[in-house]
Amino acid sequence: MSAEQWAEVDAYLAEKLVDEDHALQAARESSGETLFPGIDVTPNMGAFLGMLVQITGAKRILEIGTLAGYSAIWMARAAGPDAHVVTCELEQANADVAQENIQRADLADRVQLILGAAADSMHALISQGAEPFDLVFIDADKKSNPDYLDAAVRLSRPGTVIVIDNTVRGGEVVDASSHDPDIIGTRRLIDMISANSRLTATALQTVGSKGWDGFTLVRVT
Ligand code: DHB
Ligand code: MG
Repeated sequence: MSAEQWAEVDAYLAEKLVDEDHALQAARESSGETLFPGIDVTPNMGAFLGMLVQITGAKRILEIGTLAGYSAIWMARAAGPDAHVVTCELEQANADVAQENIQRADLADRVQLILGAAADSMHALISQGAEPFDLVFIDADKKSNPDYLDAAVRLSRPGTVIVIDNTVRGGEVVDASSHDPDIIGTRRLIDMISANSRLTATALQTVGSKGWDGFTLVRVT
């Protein structure tokens, strides 16, 4: 199978199964206006996150890495009007694009964007004694994943679900000698999960319009 075929199948399944309204479509297309075009989740992954929110009944949702707000919109909508979504973004330029998308989707009342380094924002939430989150989606700079996981667990309760995007990276995750900070961060993340008896986890590889990657799914006990 070629990358073209993965993309073709992804597009076919999204076309058949995933309903994107104008606000979602506009949010996805506006990723081109962010500092990192094209790295937002795919429509199929957005729908997956939304379904995960609905299946778990998550209301308090924490996202690390807003980008254009596409995944935040999927999760906020799925969680319903009494949801509280906190989404952390480092870059002002991305946050500006995201705020516009969140407003267009009429979700400003349930999505709170925190600008700044996500680890700092998470530590501030911990210090403030924030209520635990039901679901955490980690999808920012991969080198910081160990810090994000550590803080996410501290912001969790038994039953909290944590999803970490991009933990396969075209198979590079198995390269123990990699000097790429993103791979080192991902491998440390996997080691941390592995060593923590409070965490149940699995990871699935994915292929699609963004190539070969995958995500890790964690449940806090
Ligand atoms: C990259 C980041 C992502 O979150 C993603 O889904 C794909 C790629 C990246 O930084 O390359
Ligand atoms: Mg990602």
